[in-house]
Amino acid sequence: MKPDLHWTLDDVPWAAFDASKVEPDQLAIVKAAAMVEYNSADYVSYLTNVFHDDPGFVDAARQWGVEERQHGEALGRWAATADPDFDFETRFAVFREGFRPDIDVTESIRGSRAGELVARCMVEVGTSSYYRALGDGTEEPTLKAICRYIAGDELRHYKLFYTHLKRFLEQDNIGTLRRLKLALGRIMETEDDELAYAFYAANNQGEPYDRERNTRAYMRRAYQYYRDPHIEKALAMVFKACGLKPHSRLFQATNFGAKWLLAKRQRELARMAA
Ligand SMILES: [Fe+2]
Ligand SMILES: [Fe+2]
Repeated sequence: MKPDLHWTLDDVPWAAFDASKVEPDQLAIVKAAAMVEYNSADYVSYLTNVFHDDPGFVDAARQWGVEERQHGEALGRWAATADPDFDFETRFAVFREGFRPDIDVTESIRGSRAGELVARCMVEVGTSSYYRALGDGTEEPTLKAICRYIAGDELRHYKLFYTHLKRFLEQDNIGTLRRLKLALGRIMETEDDELAYAFYAANNQGEPYDRERNTRAYMRRAYQYYRDPHIEKALAMVFKACGLKPHSRLFQATNFGAKWLLAKRQRELARMAA
């Protein structure tokens, strides 16, 4: 299937790049994000294994993988433009060497295909809100444009997985509580090894890997760009994937709690870095 992309690297306004607007924190997390995005092939293999007898989904997963990889290319090229010493391929090789997701499975690690799709929706909630927050937070015009393009893709990815989720819910029949548990589980994994190791691979100066340290280094930089509207939008997407109604009192309460938690985590990370 020929990939039909919504944008390409040629659409990115590279000529508008303004070195004086590059912030070191943004550069460091963009380098890390480029690693994870560029590594989509492993997840395509995983998804095509789990959904092997569903050709429609397999096609969609392959197209998805091409788009994710392009996110890595765009972010990697921006990082190398901002920092000519950044050698993307060498750094990516370090990342591949140290981090490999388990892809040799035929069944979802989430217990069912619907469960897998809930987890995939959560990943896209995370990425779409992240690139929106970073895009709103940066003053650098090229990065702003890249974030806008990527955030658009991530939102479409969420809709793609959500559409398939509805189909699989009919056969797998997992209720709201189970979906919530899966969703929260996947959100908590955000602070697992993948991003921490990507941050290390992309930014280390030769020091050994320290997971805790790199998790904090990545999260402190990433969380600082989140504002209330980013959280609210992300939460509405989480609610929808779990079969809960946004604009309900439960939503208001959860929204309040999520903002409070994030602010608390932002303060903790800032304090630990000081
Ligand atoms: Fe992506
Ligand atoms: Fe995505």
